[in-house]
Formats: sequence, structure tokens, C-alpha cells
Amino acid sequence: MELNIVCIPGDGIGPEIVAEARKVLEKVALVFGHKMNFKDILMGGASIDVHGVPLTKEAVEDAKASDAVLMGSIGGDTTTSPWYKLPPDKRPEAGLLGIRKALNLFANLRPAVLYDELANACPLKKEISGDGFDIMIMRELTGGLYFGERRTTEENGVRTAVDTLVYNENEIRRIAVKGFDIAKKRRGKVTSVDKANVLDSSRLWRKVVEEVAQNYPDVVLEHMLVDNCAMQLVKNPAQFDVILTENMFGDILSDEASMVTGSIGMLASASLNDSKFGLYEPSHGSAPDIAGKDIANPIATVLSAAMMLRYSFDLDREADAVEEAVKQVLKEGYRTGDIMSEGCTQVGCREMGDLLASKIG
Ligand code: IPM
Ligand code: MG
Repeated sequence: MELNIVCIPGDGIGPEIVAEARKVLEKVALVFGHKMNFKDILMGGASIDVHGVPLTKEAVEDAKASDAVLMGSIGGDTTTSPWYKLPPDKRPEAGLLGIRKALNLFANLRPAVLYDELANACPLKKEISGDGFDIMIMRELTGGLYFGERRTTEENGVRTAVDTLVYNENEIRRIAVKGFDIAKKRRGKVTSVDKANVLDSSRLWRKVVEEVAQNYPDVVLEHMLVDNCAMQLVKNPAQFDVILTENMFGDILSDEASMVTGSIGMLASASLNDSKFGLYEPSHGSAPDIAGKDIANPIATVLSAAMMLRYSFDLDREADAVEEAVKQVLKEGYRTGDIMSEGCTQVGCREMGDLLASKIG
């Protein structure tokens, strides 16, 4: 297969981790006989520094013309970086929201998995973490509070800010369909998370999800209020298979779920549109404090590349090989600093990339 992949190295540790994921992909191409063409585009702070804006039209066009996008991370230290002196729509995050919208990436998949080898990293008590868990958070990514109208006004010296939470039934239906499709391939359970005891948008969400569920008799649907879900994630994470939720709730719950695994440096994510196209990025941020030190963990980005092979290119064997390489390297006791534990061998970002690539083929 010939694959055109756009890379967004981005800011902070982004360039380092993308370089390692690319190294692994190049090895996959070599071993499995594919041709991969890579093109870098700028986004976030890196784009602000060159173009004055966090995302250019040209960058969007390049991404649109590609088969899939692999991203590192964007953004800097919000208290010290000059990027955060700019108006909100010119800051690094606006680039990320802009590309999500421009590419119609409404379905965000965020797996939270407790790896056997890293079970000790889980901050939960052993009797709660039990035999581990494997949750897929499906977050709606192009609607809700993130994209509703917002404004700040001042009247008679009183400042008022408004953000609006809007969903129409089509936006809810398409993410629900993706959620049920994915649950069907997993353990057949969807927990739809909302705040239907307060919000109209949540009551509509619940109705539409129930309509979609009619077409999936083999998938069990349950509803859960978001505050309860936040508790259940630390009380009994193994009860969850697919968590289906709106944009803001998904932002918060996915961070919670990743902390519960204890190894956010391991967690991948995919943002998909209604075809096979997707943007793949680690769940963690740009970690500016450790940028350029060759100590970042590239595994989440490498696993995001595996998701790209699986979801955008249907290359399951290749994706399996990458995931297997990660397991193998962990089994052999290699760890980056963030997941280091006694008796293991600590390696840097580049060495971890080399090790992973060496396990392919
Ligand atoms: C995420 C991030 C983004 C979001 C920020 C950087 C805008 O937190 O991908 O979860 O809130 O969606
Ligand atoms: Mg977030």
C-alpha cells in the first residue's frame, strides 16, 4: 500500500515523540512492504512562531489531502509562554480545535487500559483494580460547549461570560453509531454518560442514544450521570467497556480514566470522521518542562500510530505487530522515566523508539 501521512510534531515533547513513532512506522513499511510518504505541517505554538496563527489554511489543505494525520502535542506553559498573551483564538489550542472542526473529526476514541506489566502504576488499591480494565472512551469532539457561541460582556461594571452547549440529533446519532459499532467489536456494552437530570442537551442525547440502540440488539446500553461516572471510574473501572459521551464530559472523564491507569504516557487516541480518515495523537499533553531532554515516553504516540494502521488503513497485522512490540519491550523490562519501577532498565525517548522498531519483523 502507498500511504500519505501528514505529521504534526507540534510543541514541547511533540517533535521527539513523533520522530520515534515515525521510526516505528518506517520499520513497519519496510517489513510489511508498504510505501509511506511523510509530510510535516506546523500547528499550535510552532505555527504561531512562524506564521503568527496556530493553524494555516495551507496546513489544513495538506492534512485534508493526506490519508491520515499523526500528531505529537501542542501548547506550552500557560503561565510563562508568550503564546498565552495572544487572544484566545490565536493560541495553540485554537489550532487543535480548528483542525478537528475543519476535518470533521467528531469521534474521539480514547482507550484507557491497565497493562499487566504496569499494574503497579495504577493508583487504585489492588482490590479495586482487580484483574485490570480496558475502557474505550468515545468522546464527541466537534460540538457542545467547545463550539457553541461564547462571549464576555460588561454591563454597569459587571462582567458576564456565556458559553453555549448545543447538540442537534444528527451530531448525537453519528457518534452513538460509532460507539455502538465499536462496542460490538469489543465486549458489547455501552455506558452513555450525560447529565439528563439537569440539561436539555443531555435529555436529547439520552433519547437519540436509545433510538440508535434499537439497531444493536446484541449491545447492552446503560445510562449513567456524569458525576456518578466520575466516581465509578475510581470505584469499579472494570464495569466499563465503551463510555459514550459529549465533548466536555469526555474531556474530563478521559483524563480521569488515564490517571487511573497510572501511565498516561502509554495512552493513545484517535479522532475520526465519517469515513476512514483520522487524526491520531497521544492522550497526554506537550509536557514543556521535559521537552528536548530525550526523556519523554514515545509509547502513547507509537500506539496512536498503531491505531492509525488499524482504523484508517485496515492494516490489522501491522497494528498488531506494533502493539506486540510495545508489550515485548515492556516485558523485557525497558521503561522511560515516567513508568520506571525497581528492577527495570531506564531508557530515553530515542532508545525506546529504537527498541520498539527493533521488535517489528
Ligand atoms: C484534549 C485537550 C484539548 C481539549 C485542549 C488542549 C483544547 O485537553 O485533547 O483533551 O480540551 O479537547
Ligand atoms: Mg483534555
